Amino acid sequence: MEPSAYHRLQTVPTPWGPFRTKPGARGHADPRYAFLAEGLEAEGRLLDANPGVGWVAWSAARKGARVVAIEPSRAALRALVQNAEAAGFEARPGLPWEAPEGVFDAAALVLPAERGSRYTMAAVLAAARALRPGGRLWIAGDKRRGFDRYFKEAQAAVGYGRVLARRRGLRLAVLEKERHPRLPELWRGFEETLLGKRLRFRTLPGVFSEGRVDPASRMLLTALPELPPGARVLDLGAGYGALTLPLAAGGARVTALEDDLAALRSLAASLEASGLAADFRHSDVDEALPEGETFAIVVTNPPFHVGGSVILDVAKAFVWAAHRHLETGGRFYLVANPFLKYEPLMEGVFGNVRTVRSGRYKVLLSVR
Ligand SMILES: C[S@@+](CC[C@H](N)C(=O)[O-])C[C@H]1O[C@@H](n2cnc3c(N)ncnc32)[C@H](O)[C@@H]1O
Repeated sequence: MEPSAYHRLQTVPTPWGPFRTKPGARGHADPRYAFLAEGLEAEGRLLDANPGVGWVAWSAARKGARVVAIEPSRAALRALVQNAEAAGFEARPGLPWEAPEGVFDAAALVLPAERGSRYTMAAVLAAARALRPGGRLWIAGDKRRGFDRYFKEAQAAVGYGRVLARRRGLRLAVLEKERHPRLPELWRGFEETLLGKRLRFRTLPGVFSEGRVDPASRMLLTALPELPPGARVLDLGAGYGALTLPLAAGGARVTALEDDLAALRSLAASLEASGLAADFRHSDVDEALPEGETFAIVVTNPPFHVGGSVILDVAKAFVWAAHRHLETGGRFYLVANPFLKYEPLMEGVFGNVRTVRSGRYKVLLSVR
């Protein structure tokens, strides 16, 4: 993959004009979105509570609904905002539970089951809370990813519903809002000692490694050299701050980039709970960082998906971004599962790579 290929949007022709999408972003080539877009009767003010790149919002707007789409992923937002401009709907960064309450005639939600049941149910309840009484909640999902269970729970909390369509494992259902459901407490917290500092983490549903710091991230921390006070560090894919917090506590000036708003809000809350500061930005890889801004150290525990080459593309984009933002002599530390072959990639980009820790995970180092 060439350095800029990851950041390029793709165009798909549709009967309503060119639709913008981004490989790897939520909603890209995902049959659940086309299924919901097809079956949804667009009406009045409609909230899309999990729009991704925007298939459902796009077709609902074209069918005449006044759509507001709230999306937490920066990568998805890059395509979504362009589609919103073209189709005349509103798109903004946010989490499902940040939608205004009681104002929408309809809400559409592809169940975000891949983000876990706590996030999925919070999204269902939040979408229902955004509806006026009698408003309709349209949900689509996959039987193999818990659709029946979520639908049952949604009916108990929201009101009468029925399944309208089935296609292979896909399901489409509509519910009528009879009750205004309560949202459960979303925030959780835990404490851990990292690099000798006691730290407090606060997390929203759906973040990576909720409840305890990932052992791979711990291993990465042990591989770092002692940093001089004020050392500039970049944390790529910072999550709730498992790397950012201990480094900031040790006196480094950390910039943390994160695609997902649930993770970013968790990072902000964790910094505050631990009495620390860092520069954190909502960013698809390094897009929020000015060109030419450089660091002494870049750290990452990159996202990956076994067998999901698209997700590995994000990790590849992280390696290119690390190279772009390191000063000469600067060091890039990446932790990964041993079976993920990042060595040839890091060697290709930096001209050098070595393993500085190994075991259940491996920590790789490249020097610019
Ligand atoms: C394996 S987790 C590591 C999180 C954290 N650094 C830790 O050690 O716990 C990878 C993180 O990368 C984020 N991420 C995924 N795609 C991204 C992208 N395109 N740009 C920035 N961050 C991304 C995920 O949301 C996730 O928080």
